Amino acid sequence: MRILVHSGFFARESLSGGGEQVYVLTDASALLLKDKPMSARPFLLAMLNPILTDPWQYLTTWFQNDNPTPFHVVHGMTFWDYENQDPTLAHFYNDAMASDARLISSLMIDDCKGVFQGVVSLVDVGGGTGTVAKSIAEAFPHMKCTVLDLPHVVADLKGSKNLEYVEGDMFEAVPAADAIFLKWILHDWSDEECVKILERCKEAITREVPGFSKYYSLDLMQSLFMCIP
Ligand SMILES: C[S@@+](CC[C@H](N)C(=O)[O-])C[C@H]1O[C@@H](n2cnc3c(N)ncnc32)[C@H](O)[C@@H]1O
Repeated sequence: MRILVHSGFFARESLSGGGEQVYVLTDASALLLKDKPMSARPFLLAMLNPILTDPWQYLTTWFQNDNPTPFHVVHGMTFWDYENQDPTLAHFYNDAMASDARLISSLMIDDCKGVFQGVVSLVDVGGGTGTVAKSIAEAFPHMKCTVLDLPHVVADLKGSKNLEYVEGDMFEAVPAADAIFLKWILHDWSDEECVKILERCKEAITREVPGFSKYYSLDLMQSLFMCIP
């Protein structure tokens, strides 16, 4: 508990009227409460799921064979193929990503609004169930937002007036738009695969947005927002 207090995860307070010390939640630990609208609990639970943590025990084996990732060593396939054949995991994982997206999208729209000025259409590549794209579509009603993701993720999702879901493969093609948004995508892939994804993104951008910078990297979200003439 002392370490957690030292790291700011809990705080110590004296009970009123007495010298007794108690532990209380801080902003960081309050993020793990189930009923908070901005709860990060689903994300943490997914990251600690043995399906994702077991591969870390096999780094030595991985270094000694030709498997592309430690996940392959343990499960014999990519995480995305595994998720495709296990709807419970898919649901659990998509919820986790949505909880993370809820946490940052309000921050992004409030603090980085200027980034989106002049953009008429945007594709969230690998946008999951569309939590960020929904916030962008609501904040910018004149912008056409598209979420591109794998069929098992978006097949049953319904869009709105300015939001649509497209089933596809970002290694094959990305729908045309003024701007591309990538959040928590590139870290999943090798350098060569990232180059392929970015090439498809570049091909998708067909129009120059006047006064727009080429790209922004929003480190907080491991995000890349780009618009390359
Ligand atoms: C780490 S999640 C990020 C989700 C979302 N961008 C977010 O930050 O909440 C990666 C996403 O990439 C999607 N994905 C994986 N391979 C893909 C592919 N080949 N084409 C399109 N999307 C893909 C996954 O289904 C998943 O939704």
